[in-house]
Amino acid sequence: MINQTTQVAVQSKLPRIGPSIFSVMSELAAEHKAINLSQGFPNFPASKELIDLVGTYMDKGFNQYAPAAGVPELREILADKIEKSYNRKVNHNTEITITAGATQAIFTTIISLIKEGDEVMVFEPAYDSYIPSIKMAGGMPIKVALTGPDYKIPWAEVKNKISFKTRMIILNTPHNPTGTIIDEEDIKQLKIITEGNDIIILSDEVYEHAVFDDQKHISILQTSLFDRCVSIYSFGKVLHTTGWKIGYCVAPEYLMNEFRKVHQFNVFAVNTPIQHAIADYYKKEENYLSVSPFYQQKRDYFLELLKDSKFEFIPSSGTYFQLLKYSEISDLPDEEFAKMLTIEHKVASIPISVFYTDKFDAKVLRFCFAKTNETLEKAAERLCKI
Ligand SMILES: Cc1ncc(COP(=O)(O)O)c(C=O)c1O
Repeated sequence: MINQTTQVAVQSKLPRIGPSIFSVMSELAAEHKAINLSQGFPNFPASKELIDLVGTYMDKGFNQYAPAAGVPELREILADKIEKSYNRKVNHNTEITITAGATQAIFTTIISLIKEGDEVMVFEPAYDSYIPSIKMAGGMPIKVALTGPDYKIPWAEVKNKISFKTRMIILNTPHNPTGTIIDEEDIKQLKIITEGNDIIILSDEVYEHAVFDDQKHISILQTSLFDRCVSIYSFGKVLHTTGWKIGYCVAPEYLMNEFRKVHQFNVFAVNTPIQHAIADYYKKEENYLSVSPFYQQKRDYFLELLKDSKFEFIPSSGTYFQLLKYSEISDLPDEEFAKMLTIEHKVASIPISVFYTDKFDAKVLRFCFAKTNETLEKAAERLCKI
């Protein structure tokens, strides 16, 4: 009797979700000793100065709960940064909350603002947490496909799909996985579409500091859409510390109040010494402003190495991802091609079809170039041989 287990009936909230492609490809890369350009994380160290600052704050005894909204020093420096970068004055007490990474901020935003039956527009290919979060909130994802080579938002289709149930539009710029960025025309269209209705914009701007070729990141914070927006950021992407899982969100007070009601019960507060360390580190603007030129060099280096390969590409405008089209090389579906590339050529990437619900396959793979030059050289050498 003691050994007998009786499982209870569970109604899964996400019945069709299996292990993510990022885990699948990373495991395959490890198994076949392939260079892993699949998952988006740097393989070089974070700043020693920043790491030392974390240690200093731990030594000084900053090891207990932070305020739920985040350490005030960090929120103050962020409010200052937002004013300088985006010409938007935000109140650090009421309009900024520090989160356990951007994914948590996205989830909390959706759970706190989306109710049963609400429709949420998502542009695909989409970061993988959006749709499960919408479903867990009881919402209905309404998908609009972005297609290559330019992956522009098809505004006519967006207009057609807006209904009286539309409660939110999720925007992501710079865009993972395509590396595109929005422009003034996109903002204009967004204003026209949301004018006079109750649509909230969730603006995922985690790659705000990875924008290339003298282009400027357009933040929703600098636009008149601010009053209906929750904007989300990740220190992991800026400071090469994805494993610290720390980020923040910015929203007008009435939306932030709703966000915080949920935040206090699923997270309450975020790692205290790291918040203090980042507050100090961000005092030097250079520490975040240098990230775009740094990643531009990486992108340029990777593409230079690939110029004689059979892969086709349009240089990424932002993020630390580059799409490569392989239709000159193979007719295989992208998931199969990505697995073959990992097993036989020892370079792991992510097939783009996994970012579309209908698995739209344009024979395109995503490669992460947030890697040491040595890693990029080895990967490119293998890719050039195909
Ligand atoms: C578009 C996008 N949003 C959000 C995140 C999540 O960021 P974090 O690691 O801070 O949760 C990522 C991470 O890859 C991302 O690419």
